[in-house]
Amino acid sequence: MINVLFVCLGNICRSPMAEAVFNGLLKEQHLQNQIQCDSAGTSDYHMGETPDKRTMEVVLQNKLALDHKGRQFSADDFEVYNYIIAMDEDNKKNILRLESSATQKSYKVFLMREFEDKAQNLNVPDPYWSGADGFIEVYEILWRSCQNLLDYIKKEHQL
Ligand code: 4NP
Repeated sequence: MINVLFVCLGNICRSPMAEAVFNGLLKEQHLQNQIQCDSAGTSDYHMGETPDKRTMEVVLQNKLALDHKGRQFSADDFEVYNYIIAMDEDNKKNILRLESSATQKSYKVFLMREFEDKAQNLNVPDPYWSGADGFIEVYEILWRSCQNLLDYIKKEHQL
């Protein structure tokens, strides 16, 4: 199984939405037996909480599904996940801070927008303090990025 982890700060807005978008693609392409994904936050602010209401609205409007409870990223995740996808540069820094030279590196850490064609900025904007339109913008970024991420993983694993 190939394991993908999406990571943001709170694990209630961007990374669970990425999980929903990516799962939608896996389902559409019948790849759920080969690839699976989850999400986590670098903070412990919303551990155990369901995703933000505005995230769920966008997910449901786009006929996607999401069943997730907030959890904090930990060094153990390096042992499980093959692709760790950070939503912004701060998240990526906080992930890499937990890396240990002792662990064998069988994972890769990327920024989500490295996979977006013609991204103007490499950070997925944090929509937490914005209105509903901020969540729609995030969805559109994730939709474009996740398709290319999946193509990249398929190519790497000859799927
Ligand atoms: P996320 O958004 O990292 O996309 O889940 C945030 C959610 C909560 C907070 C910040 C960002 N917060 O400060 O509580």
